[in-house]
Amino acid sequence: MFASLRLLSRRALVSQVSRVQSLAQAPLRQFSTEAAAPKSGGGGGTWAFLFGAAGIGGGLYYAKEKGYLDEFLSSTPAATTQPKVQDYEKVRKAIADLMSSEKAEDYDDGSFGPILVRLAWHCSGSYDKATNTGGSNGATMRFPPESDIGANKGLDVARKLLEPIKEQYPWISYSDLWTLAGAVAIEEMGGPPIKWRPGRTDQPDGKNCPPDGRLPDGAKGAQHIRDIFYRMGFNDQEIVALSGAHALGRCHADRSGFEGPWTHSPITFSNEYFKLLLDEKWNKKKWKGPVQYEDKTSKSLMMLPTDMALVWDKKFRPYVELYAKDDQKFFDDFAKAFSTLLELGVPFKEELPKAA
Ligand code: HEM
Repeated sequence: MFASLRLLSRRALVSQVSRVQSLAQAPLRQFSTEAAAPKSGGGGGTWAFLFGAAGIGGGLYYAKEKGYLDEFLSSTPAATTQPKVQDYEKVRKAIADLMSSEKAEDYDDGSFGPILVRLAWHCSGSYDKATNTGGSNGATMRFPPESDIGANKGLDVARKLLEPIKEQYPWISYSDLWTLAGAVAIEEMGGPPIKWRPGRTDQPDGKNCPPDGRLPDGAKGAQHIRDIFYRMGFNDQEIVALSGAHALGRCHADRSGFEGPWTHSPITFSNEYFKLLLDEKWNKKKWKGPVQYEDKTSKSLMMLPTDMALVWDKKFRPYVELYAKDDQKFFDDFAKAFSTLLELGVPFKEELPKAA
């Protein structure tokens, strides 16, 4: 437990420092090629939750003491062995190593982190609260029609990247692996510790794929954003917090039709997205592609119509302002909402506490 605590505080410190550094450097560099976070694969937050360091994660420590953890960890039907916390630690390290592997150096901005975050979000964001369908449980995106819908274009890249890890650790379900990869990616790119716990099981086929249309369309406006995220059970503040993930990664014309990164440091988790939304002047980009916005200063950054809706809508905007001013508040709120997102529709055992 103390080791977990130590890890967490060391990581929090490094993360703070790297964040300050990355923000200080942001105007100087165009696209970062280095991830801000240490690549140790230590992951204090995730494991503090798994181990449940008292006062930080709470949850599974209690569960472990009561003997629930072993029962919980062995309840994955795909398991051929009884995975322990140490086994998940190995998977976490494999994901962290993959993100910063040599292969990653030639990919986009030098990290697979952003696309792993997008995979975790898209497999979870199909959840519908009213019918309790969709969500990360099942990993149905392995199958058509979900694998082929326009919103998931390009995510085959992330799924293929994780395949060797699944082969090496066959006891982990795809749904646990994809969501864990998202959590690890956030942390490794300098973001907050994400509470994550195992327990998802995989569906054998695509019979229960959620219908197309459950993920947001970047060409639309505030009402559409609310329709999509309220359906999952999120409120306005959580919608804005989650949207801050667009500090990371970029749009690809051959995937979504949109093009370019949102920030100058697309492999560093930060509140830069909110600052840019407010501080920059955004003009409609003159091009043959779909409507998107570009910054007046460098003309190298982009915003989707849905991103602009966050500053144009009077109920979303105060949260954009809050997160632009207070990066700690953004980190805290993002961590909670992202953890909730990864757990939507997952039937964890009753006795286990929620990742709150
Ligand atoms: C209104 C809500 C949202 C819309 C319309 C939206 C739309 C998009 C689009 C069009 C792309 C570009 C895909 C490509 O061309 O490769 C993208 C990328 C991305 N999105 Fe979102 N998104 C939304 C919310 C979120 C949320 C909630 C998260 C995570 C919590 C997220 C994380 C990401 C990341 C990390 C990327 C970069 C992927 C990469 O670099 O390959 N997005 N999003």
